[in-house]
Amino acid sequence: MSGAGSVPPQLATLARSLRTSSLRDLFATDVGRADSLSRTLSLGDCELFFDFSKQLVTTQVIEALFSTAHERGVFDVRKQMIAGEAINHTEGRAVTHVAMRAVSDSTAPASLRALAEVSRREVRETVQQTPAHNTHVVNLGIGGSDLGPALLCDALAAMRPPQRSVRFASNIDPLDLDRAIEGLDPRHTIVVVCSKAFGTTETLANARRAVAWLKAGGVSNPGAQVIAVTSQPDRVAASGLPVGRVLSMPESVGGRYSVSSAVPLAVALGFGLDALHDVHDGMRLVDEHFVGARDADNVPLILGLLWWWNTAVLGHTSVAVVPYSRALALLPAYLQQLIMESNGKSVDRDGRPVAVSTPVVWGGVGTNAQHAFFQMLHQGTQVVPCDFVGHSAGLGASHSDHDTLVANMIAQSQALAFGVTADEVGGAATLRAHRATPGNRPSTTLLFSRLTPRALGALIGTYEHATFVEGVMYGVNSFDQWGVELGKHLAARVAADINGTVGDATSTAAGAIRATDASTTNLVARHRQWRNGR
Ligand code: F6P
Repeated sequence: MSGAGSVPPQLATLARSLRTSSLRDLFATDVGRADSLSRTLSLGDCELFFDFSKQLVTTQVIEALFSTAHERGVFDVRKQMIAGEAINHTEGRAVTHVAMRAVSDSTAPASLRALAEVSRREVRETVQQTPAHNTHVVNLGIGGSDLGPALLCDALAAMRPPQRSVRFASNIDPLDLDRAIEGLDPRHTIVVVCSKAFGTTETLANARRAVAWLKAGGVSNPGAQVIAVTSQPDRVAASGLPVGRVLSMPESVGGRYSVSSAVPLAVALGFGLDALHDVHDGMRLVDEHFVGARDADNVPLILGLLWWWNTAVLGHTSVAVVPYSRALALLPAYLQQLIMESNGKSVDRDGRPVAVSTPVVWGGVGTNAQHAFFQMLHQGTQVVPCDFVGHSAGLGASHSDHDTLVANMIAQSQALAFGVTADEVGGAATLRAHRATPGNRPSTTLLFSRLTPRALGALIGTYEHATFVEGVMYGVNSFDQWGVELGKHLAARVAADINGTVGDATSTAAGAIRATDASTTNLVARHRQWRNGR
């Protein structure tokens, strides 16, 4: 296929030659493969073993991917990002999530380090000044203002006792907030309203309801219990919400990259400042590795290139992320936003159509996923490369059960890679075709020695940088998200139709869609009819 970001001939040739080979052959002919295609990264309090030997690649492919990455400007754009240049060109913004975890002796420009220092100070002061009798925190936010903090809290809860309980409400579905506040005492609850834009319908609606709940619960000064995190402090004032404290986040930090900003305030309130610092330390370690390690050792670089290889070159259109860890159960949801909101684009930076498929990411937690969608992974007609994530030290009460968990993860990667032929499977001849599994299905395993807050940060940082690498390989702008805008505008108009009020006529894009298409009209009419009966 020609067009922006099309596959270079050398990689296309290598991919063709691999079609006549298999992971069985590749392991049989290269006894050193498992070692040459794996790396170990030291993270201070733990280590990460990154095994990509079960990917359908050779050292020649990896070398060719590195050259393509150089040609496509991965390293130049990385430099521009670190220097704070406006690489998010469609929004005229720099991209500073990496700078947010920079420390005073880092090489980041002083202006960017200052952003990080403001954020750290604001979070620290807020945590220190929050009275201990406020024993509950409810985080209101959606997308990046929810998924990162929720993932961190869920994972940290497995590692240390919480100092406050933290709950999350993100959806406009009123049940979400109803459940989040159920059983809480409003007099002892801090509400964190997280919204970079502070105009997000869901978050503001939930914030208004949460304030009403505080007042109804006898809180006479709700402002003392409502904190906002935003890049738009003026909108906080204009919203009319009683907000006592506003923490800033730079416009240059994208919502899905906001784990290193003040957005995870709820995490620091719930699990302590040290926990959040450790997460950011892990991210910083990976930043230094991503910028400083040579290509051949660079874990996020290799991970991002493998995703691109599988999707753009081999044509496997989706990737499944399967953490074998209850603590990381929210990782697939977090990565769906990170990767698909970043790279789910069909034009490149110059507006030309992208020539190859951009990624679809999905997944679930192991072993549960084995009893749900793994049938398809093993025998379905589509090949879905997998990222397995696990940790050798368990966080639950049984070491032996944790060993079984890790055994399952390793066994799944083995079964996917090597399969079993009809001849090997044995048994009744009529069943052999049904019981055989084709194998040759690629996977990467990220095995941590222990899951610590630092490992968690390193994992998130690794995925952020891999997403960056993949985006540059596609030639897309990984930092905008125009695709979600039209739906937001149309929702406002449809809501107005439902309520019989005047809709949003301000969006040209929404205006271009006929307000009167028959299906939409029918659905609105049916809903109006049925809601009247509620
Ligand atoms: O869905 C689009 C989006 O803008 C995401 O990028 C973002 O994380 C989410 O909405 C929430 O935005 P905000 O933090 O501005 O409320």
